[in-house]
Amino acid sequence: VRSFRHSAGAALLSGCIAAGLARGAPASAPGHPYGPPPGHTGGFGEPTCRACHDSEEHNAPGGTLHVEGFPAEYLPGRRYTLVVTLRRQEMLRAGFQLAIRYASGDSAGRQAGALPGNEPRIEVVREPVSGVSYAHQNFPGSEATDGGAAWRLAWLAPAAAAGGPVVLHISANAANDDNSPLGDYVYSDSATSRPRR
Ligand code: HEC
Repeated sequence: VRSFRHSAGAALLSGCIAAGLARGAPASAPGHPYGPPPGHTGGFGEPTCRACHDSEEHNAPGGTLHVEGFPAEYLPGRRYTLVVTLRRQEMLRAGFQLAIRYASGDSAGRQAGALPGNEPRIEVVREPVSGVSYAHQNFPGSEATDGGAAWRLAWLAPAAAAGGPVVLHISANAANDDNSPLGDYVYSDSATSRPRR
């Protein structure tokens, strides 16, 4: 269904066709995962990617999702490099979405720090109503090699410790590259970090 697809609009459509040609697919091949819709990390009541990619079991055996570099304790104002790794043997295309928000108190659910989002294989979308930033793969970033995909991104920790603990939510999709939400394995996780005082 067109309105469900990850990307709409002429600019992205021409990108799709170019990408399809580059891969040897017919120019009429359906679109590609330029990026999932914001608000699908599984955190704060959000659904995961399984809102659409729901034909397989959640966190099924045979796959792994890891986030390295997210500290158990963060130093206010410091820049951290996060590396997200998704593995599943038969994975042919991959994607993820993550957000980092305050975990508790008055700020619960609000954006914590910043995702600068200037990496080539990643995009960051700031949801205008909530102000929450969502990082996700772009089309080049959806490539999987030997059943693995990895994404590197930066997180700037909040400038002050006052906001308290923050929580990272991630949902990722180990997909089969059939241009449909079927046959894809979704993995989701979360991690908490407290300010070091
Ligand atoms: C609102 C429905 C919807 C949600 C939510 C959604 N997707 Fe998708 N996704 C689709 C559809 C439809 C396709 C196939 C068409 C396309 O590629 O645009 C797709 C395709 C994909 C593909 C390529 C699949 C393949 O086998 O070719 C990846 C990778 C992907 N999505 C990642 C994600 C990730 C990661 C999330 C969660 C953060 C997510 N999607 C959430 C609807 C959704």
